[in-house]
Amino acid sequence: METRPIEGGFGVEITAGLDVLNPLSAKQINEIDVLMDEHSLVLIRNQPMTVDEQLTWTRQFGPLDLGFKKVIAKGGEKQKYDEIGDISNLSKDGKPAARTDKRILNNIANQMWHSDSSFQKPAAKYSMLHSVRNPSWGGQTQYADLKAAYDALDERTKAFLDDKIAEHYALHSRFLIGDDSYNEEQKAAIAPAYWPVVRQNPRTGRKHLFIGVHARSIEGMTVPEGRMMLLDLLEHATKGEFTYLHEWQVGDTMIWDNRATLHRGRAFDLDEPRELRRTTTLDDKAPELRLAS
Ligand code: OGA
Ligand code: MN
Repeated sequence: METRPIEGGFGVEITAGLDVLNPLSAKQINEIDVLMDEHSLVLIRNQPMTVDEQLTWTRQFGPLDLGFKKVIAKGGEKQKYDEIGDISNLSKDGKPAARTDKRILNNIANQMWHSDSSFQKPAAKYSMLHSVRNPSWGGQTQYADLKAAYDALDERTKAFLDDKIAEHYALHSRFLIGDDSYNEEQKAAIAPAYWPVVRQNPRTGRKHLFIGVHARSIEGMTVPEGRMMLLDLLEHATKGEFTYLHEWQVGDTMIWDNRATLHRGRAFDLDEPRELRRTTTLDDKAPELRLAS
């Protein structure tokens, strides 16, 4: 495979030697894993896939994650598979959905910096977003590099964070955008997940932050102190020097490592169609899964 750096941020583009419609050899999968460990973002351009092709392609990298669909009612999906994240603003008739539709809420929730499924254990490993249709303005996806952000922390902060554990709660980001339409039963059914604030890639040993909008408290700190720390870290990690803004072209597939990056969608005109499809693998080999909580 041939690669070149993505301009204007971080990550690499695979420019030759890969056809997403052909099964990958073990060697090719390892090559992509090595690129992901190193760069956290891998872009493949101009290779359109159907829903079934995208599922087949993604399954080669591990078991699939259902993410939010596992914790929130599935209603209204127009896709035939739960394993496909319909990242569109379209209702069943193919037209942009009403402002009050759940999927618009999901679109807006995606515009806050997050790591997919960090509210569950196991969380998400690779997310793959495939571009089908783009609005005429906005609608980019932006990524933040949590390895570079960790490296740039001062030594005192690194030492302070070293043994800290954050609580990640699925509904925290929903409450932030004013969506509190969940009854006690639903809230109780969604247990938080706990992750170290500083994690390590298990293959390379490289340290990185692990934060985002699902994180709402830090164990052993008061809620205000912990939350302020999380806000400060988020502001630090999403400074321009650590981020990349991806302008979608139809047929793009962006693969990101949820362990070592954050991402957010950017605003667009909700009356214009925007259609992306997401498939996600589970991080079922994370060393933290051996911890009690
Ligand atoms: C996602 C996501 C952002 C976007 O698909 O997981 O957060 O740009 N998408 O739509
Ligand atoms: Mn996401």
